[in-house]
Amino acid sequence: MRLSLDRLLQSQGVGTRKYCRELIAAGEITIAGECVTDARRTFETEGLTFTLFGEDWLYRAQAYIALHKPVDYECSRKPSHRPGVLSLLPDAFSWRGVQPVGRLDHDTTGLLLLSDDGAFIHAQSSPKRHVPKVYVATTHDPVTPALIAQLLDGVQLHDEPAPLSAVRCVALAAHQLEIVLEQGKYHQVKRMLAAAGNHCTALQRVAIGPLTLAALGLGEGEWCYLDPAQLSS
Ligand code: URA
Repeated sequence: MRLSLDRLLQSQGVGTRKYCRELIAAGEITIAGECVTDARRTFETEGLTFTLFGEDWLYRAQAYIALHKPVDYECSRKPSHRPGVLSLLPDAFSWRGVQPVGRLDHDTTGLLLLSDDGAFIHAQSSPKRHVPKVYVATTHDPVTPALIAQLLDGVQLHDEPAPLSAVRCVALAAHQLEIVLEQGKYHQVKRMLAAAGNHCTALQRVAIGPLTLAALGLGEGEWCYLDPAQLSS
């Protein structure tokens, strides 16, 4: 696709079209070693890299991001009590409309995907897609074989029409278990543990489908772009 330079910069979240034109006119944009000052000049976007304030930006038609969410950040679009997860990312992502794919509670840590691709967000959030999500839960009371069995058999949550069950559940330690869910109901892990007579004291999402926090190598608060091979998986 060819785009005029001002539109191209705007699409990448550099800022408003007016601001992008000002940057271009001020000689702040370099492409292939050439300072480009004509905002209407068009460029093929595929594989394009531009330099702004000494930083290289690779053009991305859409942004797909993995974030290791720390505690005390909200996933909602208009966070009210705590900072939003977007505050952990460069401003350009907010400018280009990146938003979380689904939600983690403010006190849940772990893998969160974000994107500005509406179709991707919709597809990932669809209940018809059975993307397994892996959580490590720390529990107040000991993890027993009976607790594991209950979570695998299904527990009734009071606003759900049918019992919800884990697709996999194993004890990791005396007070820790790994639980794999294919649905994404509100507070699902915490409510399932409560319905099974225990209490979740800490929760981390360690994987979404084949994407794992460990393989991505993200420390708390760190993020990375996902490449097309990771996405198609
Ligand atoms: N289940 C929960 O209870 N909380 C989360 O944040 C995610 C899954």
